[in-house]
Amino acid sequence: MSTPDRQSHWQNVYLSKGEQEVSWTQPDPEPSLGLIAKYAPSLTASIIDIGGGASRLVEALAGCGYRSLTVLDLSEAALQAAGQRLGAQAARVQWIAADVTKWQPSQAFDLWHDRAAFHFLVDATDRAAYLDRLKRSVKAGGHAIIATFALDGPEKCSGLPVQRYDPAELSQTIGDSFELIADQPHRHVTPWGAVQSFQFSVLRRR
Ligand SMILES: C[S@@+](CC[C@H](N)C(=O)[O-])C[C@H]1O[C@@H](n2cnc3c(N)ncnc32)[C@H](O)[C@@H]1O
Repeated sequence: MSTPDRQSHWQNVYLSKGEQEVSWTQPDPEPSLGLIAKYAPSLTASIIDIGGGASRLVEALAGCGYRSLTVLDLSEAALQAAGQRLGAQAARVQWIAADVTKWQPSQAFDLWHDRAAFHFLVDATDRAAYLDRLKRSVKAGGHAIIATFALDGPEKCSGLPVQRYDPAELSQTIGDSFELIADQPHRHVTPWGAVQSFQFSVLRRR
């Protein structure tokens, strides 16, 4: 899928559907929040949420006192929705409307978080472009938390095919510049009560 096609797909989703009409909505962004608190405990840690969309993670992190927050997403509408909920605090967040596979990072982060964005990259060239950004953007000793549908999770999300992973396969795909240090399964319940099987992997940048 080209960047303009992807961008219009996601922009359309966020312009036409409310929070309770998309499967990935979570009232409480767990286990992300707990994992971030564990692996980036300093409130000065620089954190980027890749494909953060309109998720409540950024407001939860701001509420915990994290001060260096960046959210990247293809959809400006999603970023605006997340920003509106944050109110005045939104001005302290860096918002980046971009395709992660084309983005040129200008800083390195202590923690990279991605819940349900990487798994849309079903094309090897796109995955390589993502992994190039991942390697360039995480400081040595920093962490990446990457959540995807697990092997027994759905084959599609938002009408698009996804690549499902278990932690070992994800780690192999990411390569040896990161070490898999923890993983956990997660059963996400959609707003309409369906259960989706995710895996959350924590990787440390060597
Ligand atoms: C399933 S939603 C998950 C949103 C959010 N991470 C959450 O947990 O609520 C996937 C998000 O990834 C974004 N996305 C998909 N492909 C992307 C890409 N290539 N670059 C940046 N964002 C992307 C979409 O716009 C969407 O907001």
